Amino acid sequence: MDKKQIKIIKDIETIHAEIAALKKNGAKIGFVPTMGFLHKGHTSLIERSVKECDVTAVSIFINPIQFGRGEDFDSYPRNTQRDKSIISKTGARYVFMPEQKTMYGDDFKTSVSVKKLGKIMCGRHRPGHFDGVCTVVLKLFNIISPDIAYFGRKDFQQLFIIKKMVEDLNINIKIKDCPTVREEDGLAMSSRNRYLSEIERKNAPILFKTLQTAAAMTERKNISIKRIKSISLKMLNCNPCVKSVDYFDFRNCETLDEIKSLGNYFKGDARSGILIAAAIRIGSTRLIDNVVI
Ligand code: PAJ
Repeated sequence: MDKKQIKIIKDIETIHAEIAALKKNGAKIGFVPTMGFLHKGHTSLIERSVKECDVTAVSIFINPIQFGRGEDFDSYPRNTQRDKSIISKTGARYVFMPEQKTMYGDDFKTSVSVKKLGKIMCGRHRPGHFDGVCTVVLKLFNIISPDIAYFGRKDFQQLFIIKKMVEDLNINIKIKDCPTVREEDGLAMSSRNRYLSEIERKNAPILFKTLQTAAAMTERKNISIKRIKSISLKMLNCNPCVKSVDYFDFRNCETLDEIKSLGNYFKGDARSGILIAAAIRIGSTRLIDNVVI
């Protein structure tokens, strides 16, 4: 197929009908939901879908209901022309770009409610965020009806919650997780990196560095989580560009339960099964990242 032949579709009926016809002919459909302003993290998901599926659809929709009051919905970076050009080089066939009124008419009254998992970590600082994410993802799943959907591990909690939603609500879609794509200096790629000033951008890799240092410290005998956390917070707070730390959490990567002691987390001689996840503010930009041990 000519890689440049992408179809841009804005209305639900058209994309639904096109995909349904392809599925009737036995095509395996891959889907990558995004909010646009694409970078290599996004394209890694799209390229994986293109490799594993017959047809790939990408959505671009900045979902208003996952942004809280005072958050960056209005200023969220947008560049549709550039996004289309990037997608056209990946081999994806469809770009679904609905208007806000297409997704949420005046009479929209139903949403997905995420219980405990949506109220910890990022959810504690962004109330309602994961309800908004799950509601839009479920709508997109129903509109596209893919066989497989691809999500990044950079947003570990989002990925975890979506997998749980799929299980809990019996959604017949396979969720695949993809590794975090980073800049050369370790900063996880994110559309929000665009907000960073030059000096903030230089200092932003402190987040990943601190997570890596914390991960390395878990290998020390008899060190407590309390101690690692205190060293990590010091490392972050000493950086002149770090305005605040929303959280720096040790969690069981299979349950997201908080880990209070490292004692049980061994596989052979090494630690295993631990997620260290953090969110910080560099200037006014909120950055998140994680490492899994
Ligand atoms: P967005 O931030 O655009 O991210 C879209 C997808 O790309 C998510 O699955 C995210 O985890 C993944 N991604 C982002 N940066 C990445 C990186 N550096 N490496 C690997 N994957 C990365 O996440 C959202 O949009 C929205 O919440 C959405 C799921 C689309 C619902 O509105």
